Amino acid sequence: MTTTPTSPEPQAPARADFASDFLWGCATSSYQIEGAGAEDGRVESIWDRFCATPGKIRDGSNGAVACDHYHRWPEDFDIARSMGINAYRFSIAWPRIITEDGQVNEKGLDFYSRLVDGMLERGLEPWATLYHWDLPQHLQEQGGWANRATVDAYLQFVDAVTRRLGDRVTNWITHNEPWCTAILGNYEGVHAPGLTDFKTALQVCHHVLLSHGKAVPLIRANVPNARVGIALSLHPLRAATDSAADQAAAARHDGLRYRWFLDPLYGRGYPAQMAEIFGDANPVVEPGDMDAIAVKTDFLGVNYYFPEIIADEQGHGPLDAKVLPPKADAEKTAMGWEVSPEGLSNLLTRIQSDYHPGPIYVTENGSAYEDVVGADGNIDDAGRRRYLKRHLAAMKNAIDSGVPVKGYFAWSLIDNFEWAEGYLRRFGLIHIDYDSQQRRLKDSGKWYRAFLHHEG
Ligand code: NOJ
Repeated sequence: MTTTPTSPEPQAPARADFASDFLWGCATSSYQIEGAGAEDGRVESIWDRFCATPGKIRDGSNGAVACDHYHRWPEDFDIARSMGINAYRFSIAWPRIITEDGQVNEKGLDFYSRLVDGMLERGLEPWATLYHWDLPQHLQEQGGWANRATVDAYLQFVDAVTRRLGDRVTNWITHNEPWCTAILGNYEGVHAPGLTDFKTALQVCHHVLLSHGKAVPLIRANVPNARVGIALSLHPLRAATDSAADQAAAARHDGLRYRWFLDPLYGRGYPAQMAEIFGDANPVVEPGDMDAIAVKTDFLGVNYYFPEIIADEQGHGPLDAKVLPPKADAEKTAMGWEVSPEGLSNLLTRIQSDYHPGPIYVTENGSAYEDVVGADGNIDDAGRRRYLKRHLAAMKNAIDSGVPVKGYFAWSLIDNFEWAEGYLRRFGLIHIDYDSQQRRLKDSGKWYRAFLHHEG
């Protein structure tokens, strides 16, 4: 249930309160928006297969048509330009680029080449994500990310893409939210490929991080002035109570959610305390892997949505810890996620003090609400507008306290396929009518436009 806000309209900073070269963008991902599932030689992805498995997607839907962005991108980018954003984060579908027999599919590359030209023509700086969860299904049949050979397959894909687009795309994100790839996909089984084995999940995680580390020098070799980073999904954590048991559970949860990723990326290896807990489930690590993972990057991408509350629960998963739902009186979005702008400033300040990762970009932040199209065609999404304002204010606080945040990407440009939630959850600043494919800028999008045009 969404909680209806009753407090006064929040104060937002003005665009002029941020650096003049700050990036203001929106983000999307290939499977969630493109559709055109069988066009131009695209092969099956793990998400096509997962969606075809009964009971996996709440509304039984899939991304076969989605927002038909594959054909309608000029309209989407025209609206994006009218909003005044100067950067756009998108992802490249691996199944469009490499065929099942390992050949490069030029038609797939042509599509992204046109897409990038379309961005540049409209003043949108392209930020390309190389892996946003759509692994080719034939690679899953050979073990997917749990198979070390998938790292080499990924590098072939990255090589083809960066050679073709590297003359126009400078900013590259190797992976989106590796925790989700590993844990939601291979341990919790709620994302593709739907496996439920913790040891597999940790091996997947290791290979994803390794593929990141090996991709960075490859991208730099192919792209003049490349800037390369990774986007992590991170949450500030609270223990459910002051009890020693809950505090320890929160530390364990943090050990996997936060330190298992950031420690190796910033040269500290996997946290020993966690490796001890994981025992036999620890991944196979070959000599040189940890050095590869610790390659220096140009920025860190942070995807932030909500804080997590952790309680001790012996026997609950490998960590004996459980994520509790928000308190009954907490303000929540339609996802049931707690609205906590201070969570964003706390998280950013913590990352900065723990790792000093260099430039940070908020590569995703946004909210789902139950949008209604009014009789006049307007969508009065006050909840999303307020969420946006408050999170921009929180980001500003973090910057003021010394965190080098250099850009913000709202999730999402358009409503889209929200994975296991199908089309039931809408995150867009632009509304999509999935019957007619009509686009309508929501009030939140109009507010962002006014903010970007210095009218906010
Ligand atoms: C993070 C993911 O990167 C994105 O694909 C998803 O739609 C949003 N969070 C909202 O859940």
